[in-house]
Amino acid sequence: MQESFFDFLPKPTVILAEGAVLLPGFALGLGADILSFLNSIQAASPFRHMITPGGHRMSVAMTNCGKFGWVSDKTGYRYDPVDPLSNRSWPEMPASFLKIATEAAVAAGYSGFQPDACLINRYLPGSKLSLHQDRNEADFTQPIVSVSLGLPASFLFGGLKRKDAVKKYTLEHGDVVVWGGPSRLCYHGVNTLKTGEHPAFGKQRINLTFRKVV
Ligand code: SIN
Ligand code: FE2
Repeated sequence: MQESFFDFLPKPTVILAEGAVLLPGFALGLGADILSFLNSIQAASPFRHMITPGGHRMSVAMTNCGKFGWVSDKTGYRYDPVDPLSNRSWPEMPASFLKIATEAAVAAGYSGFQPDACLINRYLPGSKLSLHQDRNEADFTQPIVSVSLGLPASFLFGGLKRKDAVKKYTLEHGDVVVWGGPSRLCYHGVNTLKTGEHPAFGKQRINLTFRKVV
């Protein structure tokens, strides 16, 4: 990664669409202990490649923490209080995760966000996430808060219809995107991750998405 003088200046908030913002560096305060939280989460509920209802193995590996976890298999998508791999509850959501998610929601104009699920996506170089809507949650008045860690990604953000134009945004380590209100059901995705090396996270990108499921 190339450094320049401008890296030391705070980057301004970017409006992606009405109700959707990118807060550059908002999660940088999470600090180094996030890696140890991620390690203990994956020790209890390992990353796995889920199968879509159409029978495809996802290139992104996933796990969850919080009361509910997002799972996909041949029967469809759902939120499940039990990890089908461990047959136990998902690991608890660390207080520092919850705090950063609620603070980012407030900064984006959504007060009172109480996420009960955190999907953890792991992208290795070559992984991608096709355009989709997050629509398995009960209450669309609650936003989605997405925290990016590790290698940078090219994030796609479109409109309410799949065929609407999409814009590309680079998400760096520590960036947070929040979408809700009129943008809550906007299509989004992640382009194929490029190879690289992040000082703390190595050759991967981790994304945390916080949701209010029930
Ligand atoms: C998601 O849509 O669940 C993840 C988005 C991302 O990885 O930035
Ligand atoms: Fe999503």
